[in-house]
Amino acid sequence: MERHSGVAKCFPARQVVLDNGETNTRKWGDAMLKTKFTETFGIDYPIVQGGMQWVGYAELVAAVANAGGLGFITALTQPTPEDLSREIAKCRDLTDKPFGVNLTILPSLNPPPYVEYR
Ligand SMILES: Cc1cc2nc3c(=O)[nH]c(=O)nc-3n(C[C@H](O)[C@H](O)[C@H](O)COP(=O)(O)O)c2cc1C
Repeated sequence: MERHSGVAKCFPARQVVLDNGETNTRKWGDAMLKTKFTETFGIDYPIVQGGMQWVGYAELVAAVANAGGLGFITALTQPTPEDLSREIAKCRDLTDKPFGVNLTILPSLNPPPYVEYR
């Protein structure tokens, strides 16, 4: 008799046809989950770690990237453009996967000098 785990019964393998006509067989536990978002950003899973002030440092962002998601360094945490540049370089040392940088557009008492960040 063939044995199935409960998970395999609930989530059987199924074929998904993508917008570009390619087919993708997905089953529970697959390492990759292809969507337009994952293909656009070159990541494995459609999961984003949003910008979080005082949390979105290189270590977290690289860990998210290495796990297959899309992480964002939070620019607002970095006191100067040079610090942000160093944080981006540190993240590039920790991962060769894509990641982003979150810039706030909210009104602020001390607006970040983003023009100097270029
Ligand atoms: C501690 C903390 C700090 C955050 N700081 C920022 C920030 O600096 N910039 C920003 O755009 N969003 C910030 N957010 C919002 C998050 O990026 C995210 O949009 C929010 O937590 C909602 O996430 P969800 O869509 O997964 O529920 C912060 C959230 C938390 C919990």
